[in-house]
Amino acid sequence: MISIFLIILAYLYGSIPFALVIGRLFYKTDVRNYGSGNLGGTNTGRVLGKKAGVLVIILDASKALLVMFLTRYFCSLLSLNEDTPYICALFCVIGHCYPVFANFKGGKAVSTAIGYFIAVNPLGAILALVVFFIVLKISKYVSLSSVLASLSVLVATPFLDISLIGKLATAGIILLLVYRHCENLKRVKQGTESKISWM
Ligand code: G3P
Repeated sequence: MISIFLIILAYLYGSIPFALVIGRLFYKTDVRNYGSGNLGGTNTGRVLGKKAGVLVIILDASKALLVMFLTRYFCSLLSLNEDTPYICALFCVIGHCYPVFANFKGGKAVSTAIGYFIAVNPLGAILALVVFFIVLKISKYVSLSSVLASLSVLVATPFLDISLIGKLATAGIILLLVYRHCENLKRVKQGTESKISWM
């Protein structure tokens, strides 16, 4: 019962659309009406500038990171099932992508997945960041870099020292991220995806 309560809380926390909150609060702008329309750090940076983009990336990354740390703490405190934190993190990322507070149209899970990787597999997070920046340097596509970086973590997932449910939740987060980038990948193929100019 407590586990289900934590899972619902994790979904609600993931559902906070920080890109929308920062845009409206500090810039009086709804980022959904500009750029790709995505509620994520990349589109916030594209529409409102680097500072706002970085702030949203940090806040979005904090979602799964905090959920993992807090639920791990509560699980050991209350002797709950040790798989609960992974399921909570998965639902936190689902909340980020399909937020109840923003008509179920959210982000693409990149920053939240980074927060999750940092909590579960810091080495994997470093690997993902290295792959991300190499692909970004070559292609200038944030979307393609995010997908390939996450797939590099997926390859390493079977070898992680975590439970089967933990591995399945990790794979679920990565596959959701890839799924959320389908339109971006189509545009990359057609050569119409927007490139970054600052690298
Ligand atoms: O942050 C998600 C990124 O990979 C793509 O975002 O706005 O270019 O669709 P966007």
